[in-house]
Amino acid sequence: MTGNEQTPTAVLREEHQLILKVAGRLDEMLTDEERGEELQFDTLESCITFFRLFTDAFHHGKEEDLLFPGLEEEGLPSDSGPIAAFLEDHAQGRVYVADMVASLEEARAGDAQAGRAVRDAARAYVDLIVDHISREDGILFDMADNMITGSACSTLCSRYDDVCASKFEGKTKADLERLAEAII
Ligand SMILES: [Fe+2]
Repeated sequence: MTGNEQTPTAVLREEHQLILKVAGRLDEMLTDEERGEELQFDTLESCITFFRLFTDAFHHGKEEDLLFPGLEEEGLPSDSGPIAAFLEDHAQGRVYVADMVASLEEARAGDAQAGRAVRDAARAYVDLIVDHISREDGILFDMADNMITGSACSTLCSRYDDVCASKFEGKTKADLERLAEAII
């Protein structure tokens, strides 16, 4: 942290930009495939790993375990309104990623039905995550920046640092940023 612009959403907004780049690359791959190019299964597999570990574990983990409870403490309900809607998006995203994982190997082996299942889940995931991030940046994060300030903000940021310094399935956040660079 540089200390000059500490907000409860800065690191999350930054992560959104990388997630959007990977989703954008997957979107291009799906469009190319619709035009007759072969789907690049190795890149698709890397996208799935990125979505599981960076988007869900590192990023949604910070939102669900730290930011949303912080907003609840400031009086925003979690069982209705924006937090409930965003939690629902996260759950739906996990379903699409699980669908991609479930059909990937059969699709790679040439099974047409599995191929359709992977493409449909990938398309649905891209659409969901792009819309989700735009609403989060435009609605919830602006609310959070106004609601969580001072020492509550500093505490939250230091907890974010702890999550960012952890590993998921043996991968650091930097490992996954490198994976994203290789994808895009
Ligand atoms: Fe987010």
